[in-house]
Amino acid sequence: MVKKTLVAAAAITLSTFALSSCGNGSEADSGSDSSGNDDGTITMGFAQVGAESGWRTANTKSIQETAEAEGIELKFNDAQGKQENQIQAIRSYIQQKVDVIAFSPVVETGFDAVLQEAKAAGIPVILTDRAVDVEDPSLYETFLGSDFVLEGERAGDWLVENAKDSDVNGDGTINVVQLEGTTGAAPAIDRAEGFASKISADDSIEVTASQTGEFTRDGGKQVMESFLQSDDSIDVVFAHNDDMGLGAIEAIEAAGLEPGKDIKIITIDAVKDGMTALADGKINFIVECNPLLGPQLMDLAKKVLDGEEVPERVVTDEGTFTQEQAIEALPQRQY
Ligand code: AHR
Repeated sequence: MVKKTLVAAAAITLSTFALSSCGNGSEADSGSDSSGNDDGTITMGFAQVGAESGWRTANTKSIQETAEAEGIELKFNDAQGKQENQIQAIRSYIQQKVDVIAFSPVVETGFDAVLQEAKAAGIPVILTDRAVDVEDPSLYETFLGSDFVLEGERAGDWLVENAKDSDVNGDGTINVVQLEGTTGAAPAIDRAEGFASKISADDSIEVTASQTGEFTRDGGKQVMESFLQSDDSIDVVFAHNDDMGLGAIEAIEAAGLEPGKDIKIITIDAVKDGMTALADGKINFIVECNPLLGPQLMDLAKKVLDGEEVPERVVTDEGTFTQEQAIEALPQRQY
């Protein structure tokens, strides 16, 4: 790997290409071709999932701001939640001969071919936030992000510990409805798995319905509305992210019920809006998922391009929040 010398001048190139017109990346991105850069500037192509949640907005901001601060030229693409867009963006980065590709996969599977193309072109790939399920682990250099199974476990642990208070209907059974993230996405699969593994310790806790809300506020609201129409014995909502939990709050209030009391709510992320709802007592518990991956990502990219060894997995440090902890943390919350 060629050793890169960083220049101070920052240049973020936001991809402006219309995804619909970038067949195999051939017409994609008007940004400069970094292969011709003799000044040592690192060019990173970043393929983002979309802008589905407050978490994602904070994640994008962290990546863009860190690239700018570190003088890394960032080519950024928003896949609008579609895997095919993301694959097109990665192909376009390969064609442009960027130095390194980073991406947060929309879903876990289906990336083998495009990652093989990147490998054949000699362009290292770093996974951020979400993992992929590929046969050959040498198709990417490293993964940076959360332990989503652990996040689900933390949510399940809280419910088991607070089972008595969570039996709102007082019938001895804790009926949980689950708002899943995007089907096939690592956080949706892993959080459901971690949660299920912990609640299995208590026979009175049962997931009675589970459906995707696509990690969006609107999706969470719509799914919760349909859950409320078909079941009047819901005790708990487990939402795979804050935004879906916030959507569920709207549906619960519209149904004349009090979120946090008539129906307990557990979410994951701990973005400002979620933390505010927790401080207000509308959410009961939040498991943190840290979106501020920019600094670690740029550091890993430099190491990879310098030919340094990097760990296979770099897992971010995270915690959990009760109402009291949210009230204390909110004034300093960055996102
Ligand atoms: O992959 C991280 C998840 O994706 C976050 O929990 C969610 O808010 C986002 O959409």
